[in-house]
Amino acid sequence: NWTMEAFKDKEVVRIRKLVGEKGQVIGAVSGGVDSTVAAKLMHEAIGDRFHAVMVDNGVLRMDEAKQVKETLTKGLGVNLTVIDASERFLGLLKGVSDPEKKRKIIGNTFIGIFEEEAKKIAKAAESTPKAGKIEYFLQGTLYPDVIESISFKGPSQTIKTHHNVGGLPEKMNLKLIEPLRELFKDEVRKMGVDLGIPADLVGRHPFPGPGLAIRIIGEVTPERVQIAQQADKIFIEEIRNEGLYDKISQAFAALMNDKSVGVVGDQRIHGHIIALRAVVTTDFMTAKAYKFHPDFLERVAERIGNEVQNVARVTYEITSKPPSTIEFE
Ligand code: XMP
Repeated sequence: NWTMEAFKDKEVVRIRKLVGEKGQVIGAVSGGVDSTVAAKLMHEAIGDRFHAVMVDNGVLRMDEAKQVKETLTKGLGVNLTVIDASERFLGLLKGVSDPEKKRKIIGNTFIGIFEEEAKKIAKAAESTPKAGKIEYFLQGTLYPDVIESISFKGPSQTIKTHHNVGGLPEKMNLKLIEPLRELFKDEVRKMGVDLGIPADLVGRHPFPGPGLAIRIIGEVTPERVQIAQQADKIFIEEIRNEGLYDKISQAFAALMNDKSVGVVGDQRIHGHIIALRAVVTTDFMTAKAYKFHPDFLERVAERIGNEVQNVARVTYEITSKPPSTIEFE
């Protein structure tokens, strides 16, 4: 008689045994469903001996780091450190337009920062008699990831590797702890609800590790990040207000690399092009564009034009995957 509640309780017992009375665990959180559920579960099992680390890489959505801190620390009681490394990331991304280079820079810099932080936590633990060494690294791997990494050797493997900060535990000499590895996404969501995680977080669309960097075609500058963030916020806000969020699998605004002519007041401007993307999919391997009502799209375009500086055009991307991908890069 399998229930999620029973699975959760069993998992908590297993984690406690594995980690021991003094053992400590470190893990990265992003504010997404999987890492949040995994973090809360660890907190239930071993309290503050689980150390959650969130790295602000400068290409998160608007106010994301602040909101994650609020939810995890105040809401869920998780022992979280937020590291604002935006300047470091944006400095390294300066002048880089190649999507794969952007991904590499973000992935490698993340690993470096995470290692530094882990060393600090380990050092602090040495001076606390109650705490032992950090032996484990928490990873929010789900069952489909497990299957995919066994059976699939295509380009998506690099995506998963990046997503799960692959290589990090080995490099830091840590053992993996993967409490979600037997679960499907809907089961993780169910566990999240049981653990008291707010419904809007549990139902969140996925967000890629390289963040807005792969939604800003061409160079990533602080100004361009801000434009992408503002446009995205408006789009998602309107989707939520319209009650469409849960009908869509993933939605976002992207900033194109070209400029186009528009009119603001009686002035012709050479402004930015924003592309909106919203897809429906079950497995993210194939996807279709969501069919919004034209009035809805018109309203979003109007708001973005009025509220975001120097936008000349807003487009809606209607291509299916394949031949396109969900992200623009
Ligand atoms: P594509 O664009 O390949 O995206 O159709 C499929 C799913 O994967 C996500 N994605 C990524 N996630 N690192 C990630 O963590 C990446 O480099 C990356 N690229 C794409 C994308 O958001 C979508 O959910």
